[in-house]
Amino acid sequence: MRPAEFLNKLIHRSPLQAASAVFRFARGYVISCLNFERRALVSVRGGLRIVRRDGTISVGDMTDLWPGVKLSCQGRGGVDRARIRIGRNCSIGDRTEIHAGRLIDIGHGSIIAWDCVIMDRDYHSTDNGPELVRPVTIGNGVWIGCRAIILKGVTIGEGAVVAAGAVVTKDVSPFTLVAGNPARAVKRVAGWRKGRPSLTISRKT
Ligand SMILES: CC(C)(COP(=O)(O)OP(=O)(O)OC[C@H]1O[C@@H](n2cnc3c(N)ncnc32)[C@H](O)[C@@H]1OP(=O)(O)O)[C@@H](O)C(=O)NCCC(=O)NCCS
Repeated sequence: MRPAEFLNKLIHRSPLQAASAVFRFARGYVISCLNFERRALVSVRGGLRIVRRDGTISVGDMTDLWPGVKLSCQGRGGVDRARIRIGRNCSIGDRTEIHAGRLIDIGHGSIIAWDCVIMDRDYHSTDNGPELVRPVTIGNGVWIGCRAIILKGVTIGEGAVVAAGAVVTKDVSPFTLVAGNPARAVKRVAGWRKGRPSLTISRKT
């Protein structure tokens, strides 16, 4: 959905619903001005937690951040900056946490349910060596079910679905459903967006 379409929808809502939508987008806009790389019409529904050091965060227009979302973007100084990029028309569910030490890139029109964790780092290492940090890429139109965990170095292809509770340690092919711990491919999926006609995927900026 584009901002113009959203405004059009707003006109057909009750005054209370319209006021609440205006409030959450106004709030998101101010938050984007203060904390993100660029200004955007983001919907922030409450309690957004941002931890940012040596890093940049960008969130696309019309993306919905549900209460309790945490964006942790902490690089290691100098050229080792961290980055979180969330595309347009995404939804990030309640209490979902995104932890970037280098890059977490989420494509347009992706839905991440509640209580998920996405991390490109481990914060510690298993051999007393330096912490391993490997970028995570989530394609356009990906659906991640509740309580899923996506670990460092993973690429999830366009239109893929991650089942609830999955722990994803390896790449996921486009339009594939993965489930379990560790997540394994279960079947091909035709496209889950059918039930959400308002979600459109457009070219990445
Ligand atoms: C992803 C999901 C929608 C897939 O549903 P579906 O297409 O009907 O899939 P199916 O029920 O046909 O399952 C296919 C196989 O995967 C398995 N499977 C499905 N979900 C699973 C899960 N969460 N964990 C482990 N295995 C799972 C099934 O047992 C089945 O295995 P089988 O072929 O051996 O019998 C569903 O599994 C799911 O996770 N739902 C929760 C969605 C959610 O979190 N929504 C939050 C709002 S965004």
